[in-house]
Amino acid sequence: MTITHPPEIDDSPETRHDATPGSDDEMDPGARQGNSVPEDEVAAIFDEIAPVYDRVNTLMTLGLDGRWRRSAVRATGLASGESAIDVACGTGKLAAELAERVGPFGRVVAVDISPRMIERARSAYGDLVQLGFELGNALALPVGTGKFDAATIAFGLRNLSDFEAGFRELARVVRPGGRVVCLELSMPRPMLWGRIYHATFRRLAPALGTLFRQGAAYRYLPESLEGFPDADRLAESMRRSGLVGVSYRRLSLGAVALHVGTVPQTVRTASPAG
Ligand SMILES: C[S@@+](CC[C@H](N)C(=O)[O-])C[C@H]1O[C@@H](n2cnc3c(N)ncnc32)[C@H](O)[C@@H]1O
Repeated sequence: MTITHPPEIDDSPETRHDATPGSDDEMDPGARQGNSVPEDEVAAIFDEIAPVYDRVNTLMTLGLDGRWRRSAVRATGLASGESAIDVACGTGKLAAELAERVGPFGRVVAVDISPRMIERARSAYGDLVQLGFELGNALALPVGTGKFDAATIAFGLRNLSDFEAGFRELARVVRPGGRVVCLELSMPRPMLWGRIYHATFRRLAPALGTLFRQGAAYRYLPESLEGFPDADRLAESMRRSGLVGVSYRRLSLGAVALHVGTVPQTVRTASPAG
């Protein structure tokens, strides 16, 4: 299968932040550390949403989701023949783009907690030889330590019960020097536009859900965004998880933030004399 891309355009306008500690960007004082909805309920919600997820997503993001995912793929810095894990893969779109980037001699593993999401991803992209699918939890990935050149999570982090633990687990499975990339909804700037955007999202998601007969499940999506850390806080959380060189960019007027961090080179300890 070949995935066709529009010409390589960088999303703009956007801003890049090096996310230095103590940045004076506005902080969100009421930010949560994790999602309070239990994992089995989250999985059940996404099982329900799976059949309509792609259509609703395209409508809700005005088709920008594809462009955001391509930015995430570029941010991995992956080369042909390398490997990646896409966590909370949903219907597999980002995983398929990663698979195309690493080519047939590379390897991509896509993991999700929802069996129906995995089923749909497998039926859409099962013919990409370099792409495999696994049912699994982002907080306890079913893979070994340091096995991948990069890890990605797109619109998945805010569903986890502990965001920092999510970053720690992503970092665990990436080799030293490899990147962890997180794409997530954010609070657009300026604040007034941000409030309008969030108020619209709060109404639009359940309305579209109702249109596709998934009203109850789609009420969860805006709820999961309430109290989610702003981009600076998320960068701090990445840093606390052990990632270095953390930076982020706001895409599409800040509707989405793209965070990137690097797994540090392991410190070599001197072997005992003798
Ligand atoms: C909003 S969808 C995003 C899907 C996809 N990454 C995309 O870009 O469209 C969130 C996904 O996260 C998955 N998810 C939620 N909690 C998870 C967990 N603890 N571990 C793994 N996947 C999880 C859901 O099943 C769902 O497929």
